[in-house]
Amino acid sequence: SAPAAASSEPAAAPADKKVTLGFAQVGAESGWRTANTNSIKESAAAAGYDLKFSDAQQKQENQIKAIRSYIQQKVDVIAFSPVVESGWDTVLKEAKDAGIPVILTDRAVDSSDTSLYETFIGSDFVEEGRRAGQWLVDKYKDSAEEINIVELQGTTGSAPAIDRKTGFEEVIKSNANLKVIASQTGDFTRAKGNEVMQSFLKANKKIDVLYAHNDDMALGAIQAIEAAGLKPGEDIIIISVDGVKDGFIAASEGKINFIVECNPLLGPQLMQAVQDVLDGKTIEKRIVTEEGVFTSEQAKAALPDRKY
Ligand code: AHR
Repeated sequence: SAPAAASSEPAAAPADKKVTLGFAQVGAESGWRTANTNSIKESAAAAGYDLKFSDAQQKQENQIKAIRSYIQQKVDVIAFSPVVESGWDTVLKEAKDAGIPVILTDRAVDSSDTSLYETFIGSDFVEEGRRAGQWLVDKYKDSAEEINIVELQGTTGSAPAIDRKTGFEEVIKSNANLKVIASQTGDFTRAKGNEVMQSFLKANKKIDVLYAHNDDMALGAIQAIEAAGLKPGEDIIIISVDGVKDGFIAASEGKINFIVECNPLLGPQLMQAVQDVLDGKTIEKRIVTEEGVFTSEQAKAALPDRKY
């Protein structure tokens, strides 16, 4: 009989074999990441998948190694949250050649060949930056004085750092009084947020606003601001992104003025996508997570129900 026609569809796992999912995580740099990891582990267990999980400690080379080992182990699906945007084509091509579908979660890659992955599930980081900027534009719409902003960027080269900066700048340029006077990476960690904020405070006499690309850096910066004898949330207005519990606590104490939510609970959507891919269903190339924004008062009201 004629050989079966070659198909680009991934073969569905036999009913008695557990689906193996290799997940290459960024690291454990923030409260957001911890919540994201827990969501993935819990959802994989609930779906009955055999999860192979690795932590890249914010290093691309470690993630590439993990992906290569998943290819060698012939897992059914590989998912990962790319630490930075660039430099993935080679390893993604290797997965494709091995017939293993890849799903991106949380962060995007800049590969022009979108056939290298099935879908990208995650937030719209540019929109998050816009929301942060819009709150500031509204707050200072009647003010004639110059507002000096310092920015704590996320990991250099990562999608959320690039996009949150872009979205914020796009919106604040409508008011010439809003000026970013210093902008540096704090690598999404509390320790770095604290360190960089200390240097911002030393170098700049008048800081009106801090825009931190995540809660953890804002929390580190708050310690630096307090140590300098200033009141976070009053002497320096603080905007951050994520909405983890510790961020909500700081906001409910008035130390963070505005939080743009970034939802880490991507596990259920990821497991659904894994199933759909293995079932040969067509899935959306981009699945955007829904999220909100919180003022200090709104964070205070939402705090008792915050799960992460
Ligand atoms: O990619 C999402 C970002 O990564 C979160 O906003 C940040 O907290 C995390 O480290």
